[in-house]
Parts: sequence; C-alpha cells; structure tokens
Amino acid sequence: MSKTDEIFQQRLAKHHDELRWLYMELYHNDSMFAELCTNLYRFYKERKRQLKTRDKKREEDPGWFRRNDMLGMMLYIDNFAGDLKGVKEKLSYLEACHVNYIHLMPFLDSPREHSDGGYAVADFAKVRPDLGTMEDLAGLADLCHKKGMNLCMDFVMNHTSEEHEWAVRARQGEGEYMSRYFFYDNYDIPAQYEKTVPQVFPTTAPGNFTYLPEIGHYVMTTFYPYQWDLNYGNPRVFNEMMYNFLFFANQGMDIIRIDAVPYIWKELGTSCRNLPQVHTIVRMMRMIGEIVCPSVLLLGEVVMEPEKVVPYFGTVEKPECHMLYNVTTMATTWNCVATRDTRLLKQQMDIVNRLPGEYTFLNYLRCHDDIGWGLDYSFLEKWEMWEIPHKRFLNDYFTGKMINSVSRGELYNDDPVTQDARFCGTTASMCGVESAETEKDPDKLDAAVMLDVMLHAYMLSQSGIPMLYSGDEIGQLNDYSYKEDPDKAQDSRYVHRGRFRWDLAEQKDDDKSIQGRIFGALSTLEQIRRQEKVFDASAEVYTYDVHNQKILCITREKEGEKFFGIYNFGDNPETAWMQEDGSWKDLLTGQELELKDVMVPGHGFYWVLHK
Ligand code: GLC
Repeated sequence: MSKTDEIFQQRLAKHHDELRWLYMELYHNDSMFAELCTNLYRFYKERKRQLKTRDKKREEDPGWFRRNDMLGMMLYIDNFAGDLKGVKEKLSYLEACHVNYIHLMPFLDSPREHSDGGYAVADFAKVRPDLGTMEDLAGLADLCHKKGMNLCMDFVMNHTSEEHEWAVRARQGEGEYMSRYFFYDNYDIPAQYEKTVPQVFPTTAPGNFTYLPEIGHYVMTTFYPYQWDLNYGNPRVFNEMMYNFLFFANQGMDIIRIDAVPYIWKELGTSCRNLPQVHTIVRMMRMIGEIVCPSVLLLGEVVMEPEKVVPYFGTVEKPECHMLYNVTTMATTWNCVATRDTRLLKQQMDIVNRLPGEYTFLNYLRCHDDIGWGLDYSFLEKWEMWEIPHKRFLNDYFTGKMINSVSRGELYNDDPVTQDARFCGTTASMCGVESAETEKDPDKLDAAVMLDVMLHAYMLSQSGIPMLYSGDEIGQLNDYSYKEDPDKAQDSRYVHRGRFRWDLAEQKDDDKSIQGRIFGALSTLEQIRRQEKVFDASAEVYTYDVHNQKILCITREKEGEKFFGIYNFGDNPETAWMQEDGSWKDLLTGQELELKDVMVPGHGFYWVLHK
C-alpha cells in the first residue's frame, strides 16, 4: 500500500464503523454503502497534491479557521466582477478589505427565469456559462490559496431545479428518477403533508406541492415550484449528492455552505424540519469530508431559533457542522436598532456565549436573504412587546413608514394570514444613509454613518467569525432596479442584491466621502481585530451590565488582557455606568482612558483594552 493510500485507510478506519452504522440505519443497503466507500477512495485518489497538503496541515491544526484574522465576505460573482475571471482580477480589492474568506454566491448552471438567485441548480457539474467554467473556478481557488484566502460555495442539497436531468427524466415518467423526488398521483398525501408543514414563501410560492399536468402528478416543492425537493430516503440520492460535494471539494473549495439543510428529510405528520435523520445525514457528511478532504469545512445554513440551530454542531465527540450562522443574534441586533433597547440582545448573546468554545458562529449584519423577525417573544412579552404588533412595528420602522424612522427598505412575503412579513434592505439603507442622502441632510448622514460603523464594530467583537456582505464596506444603498426585470420583480430580496458600485468604491480612500468614512473605519477595526490577542477565538467572551439599556457592552478576556466594546444604540449621548480601575487604552485613538461612568456619543462606541 502506498503512503497516501495508507492515509486514506487510516481516516476511513477511524470513521468506518460509525459511518456504516448510520448509513444502514437510514438505508439498510450494503451494496450502496460499498459503492459509497469505493467512490470516497476515487475522490481521494483524484484530489490534487496541493489540496492533500492543505488537508494534512489543517488536520494538524484543526482550529485553523477560528483565528482572529478570519474575515469573510459574501458576494455575487456577476454583481461584483462580471464573471469568475473578473473575481480573480479583483482579488486585490478583497485583500484591501482584509478579506480572506470569500463566499461566492450560487454560480452553478441554473435556468435564467427560474433560478432563485442560483438556488435552483440544473447541473452540479457546470458553472453558469456567463460566469465561466469549472476550470475557472478551480483556477480561482488555486490563486486564492496562494494568497492565503479561502473559497466558499453553496451546496444546494435540498432540491434541484426542475430542469436538472433527474427532474427532466422524472417528468417523462421514468420511475427511477421519480423516486429521487416526492411524486404523488393524487392529492391525498400532499393534503396530509399540508396539514403539518409550514410554508417558506407563503405569498411568492404558496403551498408545498406543485401539480405537473403533463404526467398528472404532484411533486413536492417546499421552496419555489421549480425547486423539486430531493428524496434523501433514497440512497441513490444521498450517494450522488455526496459525490457532488466531493467533486466541489476537489475543485479546491474550502468551505461548503449546506443550504437549507434543516429541510432535507421529510416525514408525514411532521413539520419536515430538523428531523433526526437530517442530523444523521449531516454527521455522515462530516465524516465523509474528514475521510476524503479534511481541510474542507461545513457551514450549515439553519435559519431557525437557537434551540434548533445548536444541535447542528453535533456533539464535541461526534461533530456535524464546523460553523453555523448566528441568525437570531443578527435579527435581534436590528431589533435593538429599532427599539434602542439592548436587553434582548444581551440575553441572546449570553445564550451564545455560554455554549462550548468549539462551536463557531458566523456573525453578520446582512446577507443575501431577508431578515425574518425570529426573536424571543416570550422574553419581549415581559415588556409588553407582543409578537404580531411588534413585528408590525419593526417592519414599519425599517420600511421608513414611522415618523422619525431613517431606515429604508422593503417587505418580503407579507403574509396577510400570519402577518409575518420579513424585511429586505442593505445595512447602509437600514442605518439611514439612503434617507439622509435623499434629504441632503449632513447631520442625518453623520448619524447614519456612525450607526453603520458602530454596528460593524459590535459585529467584529462578537465571538465567532465576522462575515461582511459585499457592498456594505462602502455603505452601498438599496437598488430598486430589480423591479424592471420581470424575473426578479416579485422577489424583493433583490433590493439588497444590487450591482457592486465600483464607481463609488473608487472613493474608499477618501475620508471625506461616505464610502471612505465607512471603509476607513472598518479597515481600522479589522486591523485591530487581527492584531490584538483578546480577539482570539479562545478568549472568554461575555456581556457586561452597564446599567443603561441603550448600551451594550461586550467583554473579551485573554491571558490577563481585558477588552470592552461599549456600544450605544441610542440616538443621544448615554452613560455606561461602570467603574473599572487601571489604565485603559482607546484602541482607535491610542489614548489613555478612565473607565468610570463613560459617556458614549449617540450611536457611538468605544473599543478599550487593558493589558
Ligand atoms: C436558502 C437560501 C435562499 C434560497 C433558499 C432555497 O435559504 O439562502 O436564498 O431561496 O435556500 O434554496
């Protein structure tokens, strides 16, 4: 046996029994399991030497991704740089942003009209032709690796496009392919499902099934009617999707974002969300990755309340995802912006900070999706903030309907039945930059920029990995032009998916411009974050009570050093009631500070350190 084969065998031996056990539990199928193992070996053999070196290094340093220099940015290839080759050319801009983790939004072949922003994949082996080729992707990965950057992509595993070869053949009535989806020749079973399964897009895509008149069948479509849910009860689906995953790992992807993962297992009589079998599958995927490509991370997209999210880390002995989105904290942050009340955020952060240190969250202010107001209402009710009126308040606030609201943006899936509208808009527009510009009001603009920078500072000091949304670093505003494109007009998420404004980015170094003010401030914060060891993932992070509900205070401690991030969510100056001895350094100005009843400007913040 060659040396490299030995490595594979050792890794396989480590996981084989558990992998087989879980596989048999779901599929009771020895020959399909054997096929899987044969293919794991094939993908391992095909893996490039440089990637194997990366695997080895990272296996020896499993905490590699949790260091304080990790900074992510998510971007749409076409909006940002036209195509994959363009991204290659723009890497220097991303380096100037201190970004070393690039999340490329979906780029696989997907029908133009029915693409859901690329989340309806027609061919897992093909890049959307206008964006480039699989070789371009591998080439980009290669260059990123040389520059110390990591590449992330979406793995849309819950469904395929109706134009995927399997779907096309299923629609022609080929049983083998129909069994890879959920097909019913009458509405009896779909009707039973509808009793217990909630709706993802109640207004833009109501219901969970779509009727296909040409074959007289219903097919399960949890998301859009053109996204057919895959049947993971069929081992062929599981195996093939694992081969797709490994194929991308072998193109040089470092992070695989497993899209909509809570939805992948369906069971009649349940909500079809977060079922135990989902965890079995994610655990198997984790082991498969560790066997073939241990440098590759799994990032789970679980947009749910914390009790549902945390289980996707698995246990310390049997881990599932390496990273998960800190979604409730994100939504709660915006709640604080609207209410100027940080109490809920403090309690939300306390929950996150009490979790085992190995659990790594991805922190963000905005992403490509809407913000759902999934807040802890049982907590808010103590202050008489009831769910339905409170959601209405948040949406009225952020759409700018309320007097004195500076935010601008649009509702998403405004469901008249549940009154559960969600919200879309960019960070800068939500902070008031857009309205201040329209009104040409310099004071309002100053306040908006301060809020925008303060929120980023707060995000950068949370425990976990920060993820920027492309355009936010230069305060990009909402883009309403999607309304003129009939393929997009129905989906208000496009309001914050505008083209990257290179014309504005040119001003990033001009500290008189809005772009320069935001870019410069973020840049300073990012550099401090990289340099100071209190930002290390192993630091102890907790909130600190400063007896003023408008102010949130985050403490980070590491090897005798102590940091306070003090953030004023209020519009006016507020006092953080604290009495800390010793000399403190303002990390932004370098000046010494006393931490005795600190006055923080409206929407201002301090980053202070005691060594
Ligand atoms: C995820 C994506 C979202 C998409 C959905 C369906 O939630 O983030 O944009 O619409 O999956 O694939």
